[in-house]
Amino acid sequence: TSAEAQAASRFGFTPIPIATDGTVHVPEGYTWHTVAKWGEPLFSDAEPFSQDTAVGVASSDRVFGENTDGMEAFVVDGRQVIAVNHEYVNTRINLPLTEGETTSADDVLTLQNMQGVTVMEVAEGDDGWAIVVDSDLNRRITHNTPMTIAGPAAGHPLLQTEADPVGTTALGTMNNCGAGKTPWGTYLTCEENFNGYFGSTDEAFELPEDYARYGIGAEGRYGYEKFDPRYDVSKNPNEPRRFGYIVEIDPSDPTSTPIKHTALGRFKHENAAAVIAPDGRVVVYMGDDERGEFMYKYVSNGVYTPGGPTSALLDDGQLYVAKFNTDLTGQWVALTPEATGMEEAEIAIFSRVAASKVGATTMDRPEWVAVNPVSVEGYCCLTNNRNRGVKPNAGGDDTAVNGPNPRAENNYGQIVRWFPSNDDHGADTFTWDLYVMAGNPTVHDDAYAGSANINEGNLFNSPDGMMFDSTGLLWIQTDGDDSNEEGFVGMGNNQMLAGDPATGQIERFLTGPNGSEVTGLTWSADKRTMFVGIQHPAAPFPDGEGQLPRSSIIAVKRADNAMVG
Ligand code: FEO
Ligand code: CA
Ligand code: CA
Ligand code: CA
Repeated sequence: TSAEAQAASRFGFTPIPIATDGTVHVPEGYTWHTVAKWGEPLFSDAEPFSQDTAVGVASSDRVFGENTDGMEAFVVDGRQVIAVNHEYVNTRINLPLTEGETTSADDVLTLQNMQGVTVMEVAEGDDGWAIVVDSDLNRRITHNTPMTIAGPAAGHPLLQTEADPVGTTALGTMNNCGAGKTPWGTYLTCEENFNGYFGSTDEAFELPEDYARYGIGAEGRYGYEKFDPRYDVSKNPNEPRRFGYIVEIDPSDPTSTPIKHTALGRFKHENAAAVIAPDGRVVVYMGDDERGEFMYKYVSNGVYTPGGPTSALLDDGQLYVAKFNTDLTGQWVALTPEATGMEEAEIAIFSRVAASKVGATTMDRPEWVAVNPVSVEGYCCLTNNRNRGVKPNAGGDDTAVNGPNPRAENNYGQIVRWFPSNDDHGADTFTWDLYVMAGNPTVHDDAYAGSANINEGNLFNSPDGMMFDSTGLLWIQTDGDDSNEEGFVGMGNNQMLAGDPATGQIERFLTGPNGSEVTGLTWSADKRTMFVGIQHPAAPFPDGEGQLPRSSIIAVKRADNAMVG
């Protein structure tokens, strides 16, 4: 029919079936190859990757890091540069000599160096896209890279440490999850589960009261605190308050100092979707990925003018939190000292607490936010929430089902969409709907079957990564249950789908290797290549049987070299 033909031309691919195997699948007429994988040298002085010992400490900050996540592409002096996050580590794979145990300061440093951010030049040759080894633009930013703390919390006593008594210079960025790009061409990396790196070596140390809301406990996930006192909260109780921010990196200048922008709040930042309001103010939408936490936006006080000054745009502005009403309206509530009874710096450091005080709507784990480039609307993946209606969030906020989070024990997730009033992303009000409720109509006949745009051919769960391409097609990546059993039968491995915002139609484009999450998406300057991230594969991807699994960025192209977004 002509409707099918129209849909086919809108999507530009024939949807693919689910997969449960150990590799990547793309539609007929498309190809893929690996661009960069964990441990691959960015500099020629790095030792080659070893299947037995992986990456040694000396080379650990000279190679592509572990667990690729959000990324953005830039053009610098005509060269293509990708800035990409390395979210966390899989210690059993990363430290094969100790079977995943951190037994020394060198083990800790190796892990710290494999995380953070890679900035790398890439180029397309006869064998496809590859890292330009030794490019003067290549850079690793790790858990130890010096960065400036800016905005209302800079210099606050709660951020001062023995090593930094002024409270304006932090070392490192961590658990870099999603990403974003500013209108002036810098990279935004988002600190998510920073809490997991801190612990206490002193059993008698009483954890400060504010730790609980952020999940900071006495035992770190990676043993950092045993070998690096900076991560030992009994010695450095303010150190965790210097993480949980959005960090700006200039990919064109490898000597630049990254900036932590505290005005954008402190929480488990997923990504940052920046857009310019009609009056020129910069709007940044953000999710806080935790069950029962919130969606935020930041609006600059100053306006952006191309080529004009940008230094204050992410430091001087107002943070808001979303309140959704059941009548499909909503408000962005300003987190001001008047509304919260907190000082400006406290709002920046304890944003979750401030948001609870104004009655923000508890959400089902807000993951990526995306803004449609061809229509004034925003989208947020609410990935899942097994606690909704079961227990309150860590702040004690009630988590009964509510408008955009209508299902208790929500294993499937949904994508909420909002339409800013007056077509203005700077507006304080909006209307909203659910773009999709994931579900399984082959198993359920109630709300868990999903919304009308879910069918046997496009089943998925736990939407997470999400990006619009330049044509206004919405690309959805998943990080969910890939057991392909029971309630998840027919969903297969994690995947990437494309959605048409106008019709709601969603079709499957790519499937990842088993055990992996598909996360991170960007395009080459000519839009003929789509770069996709494959994180934490369980299968021995991409090198096959007998080889260590290695998180990778792949390049997806059309065989006819036409544009892909
Ligand atoms: Fe790092 Fe919420 O995903
Ligand atoms: Ca994510
Ligand atoms: Ca996730
Ligand atoms: Ca992940």
